[in-house]
Parts: sequence; C-alpha cells; structure tokens
Amino acid sequence: MRVSVEPMSMERGEAAAEVLRPHAEHTFAAELAALAAQDDRPRPARWKLSPWAVATYLLGGALPDGTVITPKYVGPRHIVEVAVTTLATDRALLLLGVPGTAKTWVSEHLAAAVSGDSTLLVQGTAGTPEEAIRYGWNYARLLAQGPSRDALVPSPVMRAMAAGAVARVEELTRVPADVQDTLITILSEKTLPIPELGQEVQAVRGFNLIATANDRDRGVNELSSALRRRFNTVVLPLPESAEAEVDIVSRRVAQIGRSLDLPAPPDGLDEIRRVVTVFRELRDGVTADGRTRLKSPSGALSTAEAISVVTHGLALAAHFGDGVLRPSDVAAGVLGAVVRDPAADRVIWREYLEAVVRERDGWTDFYRACREVTP
Ligand SMILES: Nc1ncnc2c1ncn2[C@@H]1O[C@H](COP(=O)(O)OP(=O)(O)O)[C@@H](O)[C@H]1O
Ligand SMILES: [Mg+2]
Repeated sequence: MRVSVEPMSMERGEAAAEVLRPHAEHTFAAELAALAAQDDRPRPARWKLSPWAVATYLLGGALPDGTVITPKYVGPRHIVEVAVTTLATDRALLLLGVPGTAKTWVSEHLAAAVSGDSTLLVQGTAGTPEEAIRYGWNYARLLAQGPSRDALVPSPVMRAMAAGAVARVEELTRVPADVQDTLITILSEKTLPIPELGQEVQAVRGFNLIATANDRDRGVNELSSALRRRFNTVVLPLPESAEAEVDIVSRRVAQIGRSLDLPAPPDGLDEIRRVVTVFRELRDGVTADGRTRLKSPSGALSTAEAISVVTHGLALAAHFGDGVLRPSDVAAGVLGAVVRDPAADRVIWREYLEAVVRERDGWTDFYRACREVTP
C-alpha cells in the first residue's frame, strides 16, 4: 500500500493557488517563460535559459517586448554572474555567508531558472545520513525481491544526476564529515556507484550542485580540503547600504504580504527604515553617523530577521489596528530579535534605547513604543 502524499499529482493551477508557498518556478513561471521565449543566447546543455537570462531573472530587468523581470536578489551583479557561470562549469557552487544573506533564496532561484526545478533538495543537519545524498532502499521491496533498481530510492542528488539538473544541499557544513565526503566522488567523477547492484548512475550533462553554508557555523564540520576544491565559493555579503536594505525589506514584505492576503500598508516605509536602522546599527556596533560606538547583541539581526519583524507588524496592524504600520506594531518584534540572551542583550538594548533612540529627531513614538514593551 502506498501512503505517500503526492502534491505533484494535483493539477498545476490548482496546486499553485492553494499551496502556502509555491516553488520559485511556479511563482515566477510567467517571467521564466518570457525570458525563455526572448533569450537567443547559447544555453549550456539542458539549461532552460542562457547564463545571461538566468542572471537577468535573478537581478531583474526589462525584456525587448517590455516584460518586466522583478529583481529576486538585490546585490552586486558580479556575484550573480560568477555564481551562474560556475554552474556552467565542472565545479559546484558553494554559497557562503552569515545567516539571512539570501543563500537559500538565491540557490532556489538559480535552480528554478537553470533547470526549471528547485525541489531537488537535501536539507543538511547533524543527523543527515548518507542515504539522503546517495540513495536508500524501499525495504518492503528489498525483502520481497532482493536488491533491484525498483527497490532503490534515489536521493534528490541522484535524481539530479540522472536528469541533468541542479541539486541543492542546504547547510552543508552541518552535515557530518563522513557524509559530506560522499559528495567527493559525485563531484569529481560525476558518478554515483551502487555496489549492491554492480551499477552506477553517471551524471548527465546539465547536472551540477549548489550548496549553502553558514559563516557562523565555521568549525562545526569544516569542509575537507578535498571537497572544498570541488566547489567555487561565492560569499553573499550583507546589504552594503541602509537604502539597499530598506529596498530589500520592502520588496519582500510586499510579496509575503500579498501571499498572506494582508492589505498593502498605505505607507509603512518609515517603520521599515527604523527597523533596518536599528538592526544595522546594533549589528555594526556603531551609529549610522559613525559618532557613537555600541555593543552588539548576540542575535544575528539579519535582513531576513527585519523582513519577519515587519511582516509580523503588518499582520498586527491589519488584524488589530487600522491597517497603518505604526511603531507599536514593530516594537515587540524588534525587542524579540535584539534580546536573545535575556541578561546581556537586555542591558545592551536598554543602553541603546536611552542613548540613541531617545535622542533621535522624529523617533519619539518609536522610543515610547519600545520602552513600553521592554521589561
Ligand atoms: N540581498 C538580498 N536580496 C533579496 N532578498 C534578500 C537579500 N538578503 C536577504 N533577503 C531575503 O531574506 C530572506 C531570508 O534569506 P535566506 O535565503 O533564508 O537566508 P540564508 O539562507 O542566507 O540564511 C529571503 O526572504 C530573502 O528574500
Ligand atoms: Mg539558509
């Protein structure tokens, strides 16, 4: 008896309308189709788009017929170009960066644009077994028929090899070292041996792999040098300016808000700017004007964190307020993001509130809202 749930068997349209979070290739199907139709540059084997069109999909732009491609990633163009180019070579791509720098996001969109499928995904954890990267067995079949291709359960990586598609491994450095090493043969010999069957799966052209890893995890399971050599490393930076970060946060919040059916805020930009400013100053350990040194709290205070604080604020404003994003809607979220360690972080936060926020022109309401929620 098969009890697997198969969303794939649903009608595409029906599935896309009802799932909570459609994959990038569905959300942006229209953009991808327009790009494919107007892209006359050479495409590597089995790529849905040329490298140029993949970069345009990520960075945004306008097509000759006027179709607007929305930016997915906001950041330096050359980073995206190097990442896309790597996927067209025999090296795999390692996206490295502190939490919340869009590593997962970029990897999903790259896979969607290159292969039309972002779902060939392995989530790396301390408990990731070898089978998650190589293959497993359907034990009922294995017992009934012995080892056979039918009894074999391919991993997403194996499926990507067979299909000539891009596979993704999230948080590679959390995976135990011996399990990581199973990737070495795959990436260097481009084959996955199945000793039980005396067979192998050879990667078809178009296969490549994107791994993401967190800068802060360094030392947990540092990549072996043998494995590291198979990767081209691209470091995703924090947004270079407050303006860039405000831009990223407002775009993502608007997108997420639409998917949650939240009304668009009449003008939430002031609050977004304040959240971003607070996060940047505490992260950098200095005020925006460079005059006052600050202590940094233990939390990551990433762009991703700012996005969720503002999204939550919008939901509060929509359901319990008048729909306008106000300081009181974001204050608790900011506090929760900043104060992770109740003792040390609270002192840092209070100092920052009194010395910086309180004195700032036009920030009185924000200061009061923060004071109110700060224990
Ligand atoms: N430079 C950026 N451009 C676009 N979106 C970004 C950027 N930085 C962060 N984000 C947003 O932050 C969110 C979280 O990113 P994520 O990929 O989960 O981070 P990571 O995997 O690096 O921890 C995503 O929704 C993404 O849209
Ligand atoms: Mg991630």
